[in-house]
Order: sequence, then structure tokens, then C-alpha cells
Amino acid sequence: MTDGKDLEAEIHPLKSENRKVPENTGAPAGKEPRGTPAPQTRLSHCRTAAFFLSLFACLLVVFVVSFIIPCPDRPVLQGVWRIDYNAAVAYDFLAAEDVNKDKIQDILFLYKNTNSSRGNSSFSCADEGFSCPCTFVAAVSGASGSVLWERPVAQDRAFVECGILQPRGSAAPSACVVLGRPGSLVAVDTLTGKTLWSQPSSFGGNASVLSPLLRVPDLDADGAPDLLVLIQEENQVNGSIYSGGTGQQVSPPDSLGVDGTSGSILHVTRAGAHYVLIPCGTALCSRSVKGLYEKVSRRDSPLKSDPLWEDMLSAASHRLVVHSSGAIRYLMNVPGKAGDDLLLVSTEAYMLLDGQDLTPRWTFGTTQVLRKPVLGYYKPDTPAVLVENGTGPDRQVLLLDLGSGAVLWSQALPGLPGDPPSASLPTADHRSAFFFWGVHEPTDSNQTEPGAAGRRLYMLHPTLPGVLLELDNVSVPIVAFQGWSTWPRVAPRATRPSGTGSPACGTGARPRQAGRAHGEEAAAVTRPGTSVHH
Ligand SMILES: *[C@@H]1O[C@H](CO)[C@@H](O)[C@H](O)[C@H]1NC(C)=O
Ligand SMILES: *[C@@H]1O[C@H](CO)[C@@H](O)[C@H](O)[C@H]1NC(C)=O
Ligand SMILES: *[C@@H]1O[C@H](CO)[C@@H](O)[C@H](O)[C@H]1NC(C)=O
Ligand SMILES: *[C@@H]1O[C@H](CO)[C@@H](O)[C@H](O)[C@H]1NC(C)=O
Ligand SMILES: *[C@@H]1O[C@H](CO)[C@@H](O)[C@H](O)[C@H]1NC(C)=O
Ligand SMILES: *[C@@H]1O[C@H](CO)[C@@H](O)[C@H](O)[C@H]1NC(C)=O
Ligand SMILES: *[C@@H]1O[C@H](CO)[C@@H](O)[C@H](O)[C@H]1NC(C)=O
Repeated sequence: MTDGKDLEAEIHPLKSENRKVPENTGAPAGKEPRGTPAPQTRLSHCRTAAFFLSLFACLLVVFVVSFIIPCPDRPVLQGVWRIDYNAAVAYDFLAAEDVNKDKIQDILFLYKNTNSSRGNSSFSCADEGFSCPCTFVAAVSGASGSVLWERPVAQDRAFVECGILQPRGSAAPSACVVLGRPGSLVAVDTLTGKTLWSQPSSFGGNASVLSPLLRVPDLDADGAPDLLVLIQEENQVNGSIYSGGTGQQVSPPDSLGVDGTSGSILHVTRAGAHYVLIPCGTALCSRSVKGLYEKVSRRDSPLKSDPLWEDMLSAASHRLVVHSSGAIRYLMNVPGKAGDDLLLVSTEAYMLLDGQDLTPRWTFGTTQVLRKPVLGYYKPDTPAVLVENGTGPDRQVLLLDLGSGAVLWSQALPGLPGDPPSASLPTADHRSAFFFWGVHEPTDSNQTEPGAAGRRLYMLHPTLPGVLLELDNVSVPIVAFQGWSTWPRVAPRATRPSGTGSPACGTGARPRQAGRAHGEEAAAVTRPGTSVHH
């Protein structure tokens, strides 16, 4: 009998419980009054009800999540986009910032046109007191190329610098500082294009602003870093400090006592003292920010000065003696073992100077240096520098180890006049992808004119140093080119995602696209008619 019951239970497993109920009720432990079959059945009904209730609840949640609560808008990421501006003038300015907060860096650029491109801007040239045509700043979505905001900033060219007022890691609104109109300094909110503050400045019509604007520590205690603006007028460089929070002048212009060129940097010595360094001929002109501020404002500041540097700086000429061969063109702060070191690029050589005592670590003599070098990582976490020797048909692209100056990689790559600068982008393996423009012509082919097909963008990734990947070719002049890591506020560096790269030279194999795993973007503004490629 039991055997038969078990068998039946196996055949009808769901029935078995009901069958077993009467058996169990016979057990001595049964507390329920005999003869009422209800409690167990009710219990099982309850269980069933609970089961269906929870199932219903689950389905409801699924339903709510999938249909009623809208999904967050995912940006529709277009790998490549292009906007054309007819009859517009392009300027060499590009900046990236996440303007619409879609986690993709958006692009800011300048153009000059009669009206705003879309004919839909809230401002026209006349609204800002300019005559047509005037220069606009535009922010376009990095994901799709749609215009986020535009506003007129200047009659002709403007000096714009973005992201400089935001202290590292702060939530302060990010701003672009615009020197567009003679005698005024304007901060524009990067997210909306609205004016944050506007202040008169003391630069006259004939003065030229030496790029870049330098960010100095907060001197007026308003929580925002301040701005040091260097102006050149009649062979003399004056520096004045403006509040980053309000734009008010913190310290009026004072002569630095030197004649210099663009390309100044702010260097922090090991003692924590801030010095402005300006290339001036074959020497390096310098002035402590503390000295500059305290002399004119006649106030004390929390800034430090470095006794060693004060000794090295000749009081009369404000010059630091560096044994540079050729005029200094570029200066860069580069990461060193103990604080920043200085990479000095002269017309004839690259030189790494110790950041404290300015003794040369290494010198790499090439014969013709015209381009600003680019920092990156050739070996994991080991800084390297991408340099160029020459331009034109004899150009060589080299990667140097920053620690020793040794050549890590080199390639002859003919260039064209007006090639955009090189770039590098960090990749997930702690190295960098390097990007440079040039015209690689197979030597055996007998082509009429090199570069007839336009200049091309190449990529090198150190995992496959024998392969140069051709990413793009552009036949119109390129006015501005820059690259960024898509992740906001990662080192502002290099280039574009392109799924259409074809092996250009080398083995023909494609390196894995390490750069894309990390997210990368590039934008180029080209002439004529001004179009923005991304
Ligand atoms: C530019 O603005 C002027 C004045 O507002 C208007 O008449 C003209 O149609 C505009 N042009 C374009 C191309 O939008
Ligand atoms: C013009 O702007 C309005 C609102 O700012 C927007 O709804 C409209 O789509 C825009 N039109 C064009 C052609 O961009
Ligand atoms: C600019 O320089 C020119 C020539 O040196 C001079 O004629 C002119 O007055 C100057 N303008 C201003 C605003 O100083
Ligand atoms: C530069 O500074 C000197 C001396 O501090 C001053 O006389 C001169 O007017 C300043 N020039 C400008 C353009 O501010
Ligand atoms: C740089 O180029 C010049 C001329 O093309 C050449 O003589 C020189 O050896 C090159 N320097 C290096 C370091 O390759
Ligand atoms: C190119 O090829 C033609 C014939 O094929 C030859 O006459 C000419 O010399 C070549 N030019 C070069 C630069 O090799
Ligand atoms: C240049 O790029 C276009 C597409 O962008 C491609 O069709 C063409 O083959 C390229 N030219 C060369 C010489 O690679």
C-alpha cells in the first residue's frame, strides 16, 4: 500500500502533500483538533497565496523598472561626426569639458561668422555690442556634435582658456576665461555659456597677452585659485593677478623686468615656492610669485620663496643661467623623482633640468626642433617624451625615455608644413597611445608629390612598436587638433576613435585598440569653411 502511494507520489508530486496530510494528522504531536481538515489546507493555501503574492510583487517591480521608470538617457555616441560652418573663420582653440554632464567630454571652439551657426543662438553679434561678423565660442556635444550653447565673445580673435579657474577636485563651476574685448576680462560658465563675471582689465590696445594664463594659489582667500596674466607691451613683460572668484584685480601690473615670449609656466620648487618661468632668448627669465604680489600689493602673502632660487636668480636681469644651445622655445614641467623637473626645448636640443638646482640631467641634441614635445608612457608607468627632429621630408619622430634621454623608438616620417601637433592618450595598460601627423610614402612608389592624398594621422601603441596605424587622412589645412581622454579631468591629451583605421605600414597587423578601452576623443578644426571633425 505504502509502496503504491510512494509511486503515485512520484508520478504526481504535487498531489502527494495532500495525500500525506491525513497521515501526518495522526501523529501524536498534532495539536490541531482532529477531524477538521482545514488548518493544513489553509496553511497551504496561505503558502500558495504568499507565493503568488510575491510573484506578483516581483513582476510588478520588473514592470515598474522596465516600463514606468524611464531609463536614464544614454548618450548616443557617434564614433565620428562632422559639423560644417559655411564661410566661417576658424581659430586655433579647442577645449574639452563635460558640458552636458553625459560623461563624455564635449568640445569648445571658436569661430567667426556673421550670425551664430544655427541661427538660433540666444545672442547675436549686436546683442554683445559687436558688429557682424564677430567671433563666437561654441560648445558642441562630444557624443553627437549637436550645439549645446554659443555666444559671441569678440570682434575678431579672442584669447580663451578653459578649466583654469577650477581647483583640482572641486565642484566649483568650471569656467572659460575670455580676453576678447580690449580692456575686459570675462569668465564664462562652461556649462551654460553665461557670464560668471566680467571685469575691466588694464591691458591696453597694443598689449599682447602671453599665453597661457597661469593659475596661482588663492591670494584673496575666496576659495578659487587666482590668475596671473602676463602682458607684453613694448618689449616688457608685466604681470598682474586677478581673482579667480570675482575677476577683480588682486595685484596691479608690475614689470617683470624682462622681455619674454609666450610659453611661460609656473614652477613649484621643492621648497614649495612658486616661480614664473618665461623663455627669453637662450636664457630663462623668472620671478617669484611672492615677490611679484608683495611688491605691488604691499601685503604679506602665505606664499614662499626659495632661498636657493633667489641666489640663482640674478637680481638685475631676473635671469636663470641655463646652458641652452639655441633659443628656448618651450618649457614643460615634467614628473621627476622628487617633484617636477623641467624639460627645456630649444631650437637645437631637448634638455632635462633638475627641478630644484637646474643642473642638466640629460641633453638630447637634434639639429632642428620646432615642435612642442608630448609626454606619454612607452613602458608601463615610465614617462617618455615624443619629440620631432626637423619638419619636411627629413622629419623623424622619436620617443625618448624621460629618465635617461635614451631613444626608445624612432621612425622617419615626412611631415608637411602646418602639420597639427602630436598627441598621446593614456591606455588601460598604464602606457600611452601616441598620435602624430605626417605623410608616409612607400619609398619604392614613384608618386608625383608627397602629401597629394593629404596629411595622415598615425597611431603608435608601444605593445606593437613595429606597427604604425593610419587612422585618418585630411586634405584640407588643419587649424587645431587636440585629444582628450573621455574621462573628465584625466590628463588632457590626445585623439579620436576610428573604427576604420587601415594598416598603413609595418607588418600590416592591427594592434589591439587599447586606447578605445579607455575612451578617447579627438577633434580637429579644419579650413576652409571651418568644419569640426571629431
Ligand atoms: C543674421 O542676423 C540678421 C539680423 O538679426 C538677420 O537679418 C539675418 O537673416 C541673419 N542671418 C542668418 C544667416 O541667420
Ligand atoms: C532653437 O532653440 C530652441 C530652444 O532653445 C529649440 O527648441 C529648437 O529646437 C532650436 N532650433 C534649432 C534649429 O536648433
Ligand atoms: C599702438 O602702437 C601704435 C604704433 O606704435 C601707435 O600709433 C598707437 O597709438 C598705439 N595704440 C595704443 C592704444 O597705444
Ligand atoms: C607695466 O609695469 C610698469 C611698471 O610696473 C608700469 O609703469 C607700466 O605702466 C605697466 N604696463 C602696463 C601695460 O600695464
Ligand atoms: C636630426 O635630423 C638631422 C637632419 O635630418 C640629422 O642630421 C640628425 O642626426 C638628426 N638627429 C637625431 C638625433 O637623429
Ligand atoms: C618616376 O617614374 C618615371 C617613369 O615611370 C621616371 O621617369 C621618373 O624618373 C620617376 N621619378 C622618380 C622621382 O623616381
Ligand atoms: C583617405 O580617406 C578616405 C576616406 O576617409 C579613403 O577612402 C581614402 O582611401 C584614404 N586615402 C588614402 C590614401 O589612404
